[in-house]
Amino acid sequence: MSNIDYSSKIPNNVNLSEDRTLQRALEGWLPNYLDWWQDMGPSGSHGFDVYLRTATSTTPDGWATFGHVKMPDYRWGIFLAAQEADRKVNFGEHKGEAVWQDVPGEHRANLRRIIVTQGDTEPASVEQQRHLGNTAPSQYDLRNLFQVNVEEGRHLWAMVYLLHKHFGRDGREEAEALLERRSGDADNPRILGAFNEETPDWLAFFMFTYFTDRDGKFQLNALAESGFDPLARTTRFMLTEEAHHMFVGESGVSRVIQRTCQVMKETGIEDPAELRKKGVIDLPTIQRYLNFHYSVTIDLFGADQSSNAAIFYSSGLKGRYEETKRTDDHLLKGDGYKILEVKDGALVEKEVPMLNALNEVLRDDFIKDSAGGVARWNKVIEKAGIAFRLTLPHKAFNRHIGTFAGIRVSPDGRAISEAEWAANVNDWLATEEDRAYVASLMGRVVETGKYANWIAPPAIGINKQPVDFEYIRFN
Ligand SMILES: [Fe+2]
Ligand SMILES: [Fe+2]
Repeated sequence: MSNIDYSSKIPNNVNLSEDRTLQRALEGWLPNYLDWWQDMGPSGSHGFDVYLRTATSTTPDGWATFGHVKMPDYRWGIFLAAQEADRKVNFGEHKGEAVWQDVPGEHRANLRRIIVTQGDTEPASVEQQRHLGNTAPSQYDLRNLFQVNVEEGRHLWAMVYLLHKHFGRDGREEAEALLERRSGDADNPRILGAFNEETPDWLAFFMFTYFTDRDGKFQLNALAESGFDPLARTTRFMLTEEAHHMFVGESGVSRVIQRTCQVMKETGIEDPAELRKKGVIDLPTIQRYLNFHYSVTIDLFGADQSSNAAIFYSSGLKGRYEETKRTDDHLLKGDGYKILEVKDGALVEKEVPMLNALNEVLRDDFIKDSAGGVARWNKVIEKAGIAFRLTLPHKAFNRHIGTFAGIRVSPDGRAISEAEWAANVNDWLATEEDRAYVASLMGRVVETGKYANWIAPPAIGINKQPVDFEYIRFN
């Protein structure tokens, strides 16, 4: 089961050839997918040989096989983690029952919605990132962009497989619609807000892969607990790939910081405007980018109180992060959870039923996880002997979903007036001017082993290759 059949049109480990109808349906979707990739994959990159990892099995020794692949001939496929014998539903009202191999009729609409919402984010990020191919700061970084993008494409395949196999005609229609929506399109946008924002430059890309791909990690972890076993197995394998996406983000931001600190030390310059003349990204600008991407990303977890979240949990469709490692009753019926609200102009805690607060629970788990990388970025600054520190803004800052939508909160967590917001927002969120400056640094570096001036080379290359390895053959 764990070995992948590469001989068929669609590589897979789900015995696709034994289900002719499904195979034909997916082979019908394939050319539409390739058209979408042609239009929306990294721009201007057809014919490049890119050093990529491809899964040849879903076991630890086989899922990352490296070699140069001529784009767009990457073999996207359908890979599920191995089936766990006698797996049970671990939470909610069906707790203790055998997991479902087919969609239970009563949960069909909700499951479809969960799968479509997850699936929609995958092509969206590829669309958001497509112009970055023109401005990669090195071959190493361009290769990473490709790796992230081909895997987001594969994640779309993962969700489309579930839709085709388990949801009949409306599943096939949803699969088509996933190729029709476009990130940022006025008429037919992607489903979730953050996936309609632009990723205009490489600092934005690194922040996106650090924060927004981490949202992916938490959503996928919650779905990996699902009582619908095919969804759990699909998302479990997706998670192995997601780790690299977050690595690209964390190490990317870290290398930007490292280069800035190096120039600060060499020149003794601290003034951002003067540093910009040296062609590096000043630390306050990095903080403003961080504030933007973090706040937009935590909106993705949804409203702090949600009856849908309660239904998804109680029905056994979507668990919590590390559900099975928790020691409570996994029903949560009488339990409470503290969320924030604004009362008399101040943020105060309020206890609500935990079942309704599960979006907030997942958001808080995400927040804890996000802090680790920020601490490591600060180590780089500290090591350079510079006093500046990056921080995560308060979770109520710049929110557009839930209790805090429309309420002004400072990065340090004070409810503030519109006037105070307006007077300070340019210090808190990346401005047009910041973005124009960062954009001015973006140029295409194609020589093997060369890196743009605003970013340090990585400490080590991909798959332990040297940093001056030929990651891309441009042909
Ligand atoms: Fe993904
Ligand atoms: Fe990802």
